[in-house]
Amino acid sequence: MTTTTATTKGAAGSAAATFDEQSGKEARPYRMMLIMGAPGAGKTSLVEETIARYQQLHRGNPVVVLDPNAQFAPPLGVWPPDGDAAGWLQRFKEERAKRGNPPGLLVLDDADKYLTGAPPRGVFRDLFTSFRHWRLDVVLNSRRSQDIPKVAIASSQTLALFIHRELYGRQYLAANLGPELVKDLPKERFKYLRVDVDAGTSTLCTTKQRAVVVAADRR
Ligand SMILES: Nc1ncnc2c1ncn2[C@@H]1O[C@H](COP(=O)(O)OP(=O)(O)OP(=O)(O)O)[C@@H](O)[C@H]1O
Ligand SMILES: [Mg+2]
Repeated sequence: MTTTTATTKGAAGSAAATFDEQSGKEARPYRMMLIMGAPGAGKTSLVEETIARYQQLHRGNPVVVLDPNAQFAPPLGVWPPDGDAAGWLQRFKEERAKRGNPPGLLVLDDADKYLTGAPPRGVFRDLFTSFRHWRLDVVLNSRRSQDIPKVAIASSQTLALFIHRELYGRQYLAANLGPELVKDLPKERFKYLRVDVDAGTSTLCTTKQRAVVVAADRR
C-alpha cells in the first residue's frame, strides 16, 4: 500500500453508488468510517471534524452520537440512562423507519464501552452489515481495536488508524488488515493513517485540537 503525507484531510473517496430500494433510485454510497487508537490519541477530535464536514456537505441531515463518555452536548450526544446501547439502537432504528429512514449520520463514539470483538448479534450486526439500507453513514470509534468485530472492520470503506500502544491491539489489526499497515501506524498522538480501502491508498494526517476541552483531556 502506498502511503503519502498530507497536510489536508483525504477526500471521502468514491465507492460505486448503491440502489435505494425505498426511493427506487440510485442512492449515494453510504459509508462507514472506522477510527481506532490509544486513549487520548485524537480520535474524538477527528469525529468532531468529520461531523462538521458532514454537516457542511449534507446540510439539514440529522446527526446523532451514541456517546457513553459525554463528549458531545445533547441533543447531539445521547446515552441511555440504563446503558443499554443495543436497546437504544433498536429504538433508533424503529423510530427512523417510521419516518422513512431519512439520510443521516450515526456516530458510535467510544464503542469499546459497548462492543466486544466477538461476532455481534442482533441490531449491531444488522447495522454493520446493512447501514446502507438504513440510509445512514456511520462513524465507529474505539480505543481498543480488538473490541471491534471483524464484520465492522470488513464493512468500513475508510479507516483512521492512530497510535496503538497495546500489543494485542496491534496483533489484532495485523491479523485483520495485514502486517504492512501496522508497520506504518503513527508513533505519536494526533497523527493518523487514513486508509481508503477501495483505492488501496493511505495518507498520514494530523488532527485539530478540539474547541471544547473536557476534564479527561487535561493529561
Ligand atoms: N493536533 C493537536 N494538537 C494538540 N492537541 C490536540 C490535537 N488534536 C487533538 N488535540 C487535543 O488532545 C486531547 C485528546 O483528544 P481526543 O479527545 O480527540 O482524544 P481521544 O483519542 O478521543 O481520547 P479518548 O480515548 O480518551 O476518548 C483533546 O483535548 C484535543 O483537543
Ligand atoms: Mg474520545
